Amino acid sequence: MASLWRKYILWFAQEHVDFRISEFESIVKMFGLQFRRLTEQTLKPFWVVEFPNVETAMLYASRSVALRAMFELYAHSRKLPEFHERLRAHVDANRNELAKYFRQDTSFKITVETYNKHFSQREKIEKIETMDYLPIEGPVNLKSPQVEWWYIEFWGLDPTAVPEEPDDILFGRLLATGQRNLIKELSLKQRKFIGNTSMDAQLSLLMANQAMVREGDLVFDPFVGTGSLLVSAAKWGGYVLGADIDYMMVHARCRPSRITQKVREKDESIRANLLQYGCADRYMDVVVADFSNPLWHPRISFDSIITDRSSIRNKRGHGKGGNEKESKGYRSNRRHGPLSVHLALFAAESVR
Ligand SMILES: C[S@@+](CC[C@H](N)C(=O)[O-])C[C@H]1O[C@@H](n2cnc3c(N)ncnc32)[C@H](O)[C@@H]1O
Repeated sequence: MASLWRKYILWFAQEHVDFRISEFESIVKMFGLQFRRLTEQTLKPFWVVEFPNVETAMLYASRSVALRAMFELYAHSRKLPEFHERLRAHVDANRNELAKYFRQDTSFKITVETYNKHFSQREKIEKIETMDYLPIEGPVNLKSPQVEWWYIEFWGLDPTAVPEEPDDILFGRLLATGQRNLIKELSLKQRKFIGNTSMDAQLSLLMANQAMVREGDLVFDPFVGTGSLLVSAAKWGGYVLGADIDYMMVHARCRPSRITQKVREKDESIRANLLQYGCADRYMDVVVADFSNPLWHPRISFDSIITDRSSIRNKRGHGKGGNEKESKGYRSNRRHGPLSVHLALFAAESVR
């Protein structure tokens, strides 16, 4: 791969923003990607980053769920006159390389995206017209253009304090979309087996990315519930294994959580969920087990342990939730101390 550091715009969905940085860091670490992040304010939905080549950028986009789309940056500024100067200069300096996008036989579309300030369709067209110096010769095609350019204005994050001028004006060529289509594909609404504690598809996918699950990994969830985290781990290519203290849950005999459903279907199970999403071959097993009583051979090892412990109990009964539940449940098990400590020790010993 030839190294040619370029700037890219990363456009993130403005939800689960706390996960954005950790997802980014996990993906670059997992694939060993080089990068330079030029945007410091990570709450912004638009980051400018540099990657050493387009392959690196595409690898990142191939895994990110937080990412809406990625663009090759042509120009970026905080001031409109400077933005136009930079855009002209970029097109001039890269005339030969960009010529194929401007050709007569290449259809195009320019999308105007503004954040935190609404513009009418007329105003958006006026913004496009300010870039009439672009040497575009091809026809407009709004439905399926061969090249898509995006003009982006970022007007801050606070809807009650919209600035006089945009904070950022950006222009770039669409290169790839992120993996947000998976959120819909794995939606709980259509999932075969769900329960009250099923984790939503987006969070599960983000967590599996944080766990750096890769093709062929062995992944374990010790508090598996209805297996949402196993679904996302399997979707990223992991072989998945789960355990849960609740026999009825593991066997999908717990009370249905859908209002419209009175009784469980016979064929509901975590395995059926994986089958539904085309990754049944990734299913190893789910077992009934209390995590506070060690079950696993000391020599077992996993590539990652991924879990959501918002409700923890032990054999003696339920706790209430969160940390209190966790410490209550665990106080009765003197051998291991608090559950989080036990989980951390287990992970330290069994994650390879
Ligand atoms: C928040 S739920 C997990 C939800 C799961 N991520 C899903 O998508 O359905 C926590 C699970 O931990 C299980 N659990 C609680 N205490 C446990 C223990 N000591 N050992 C194993 N599982 C336990 C509960 O039965 C529950 O299914």
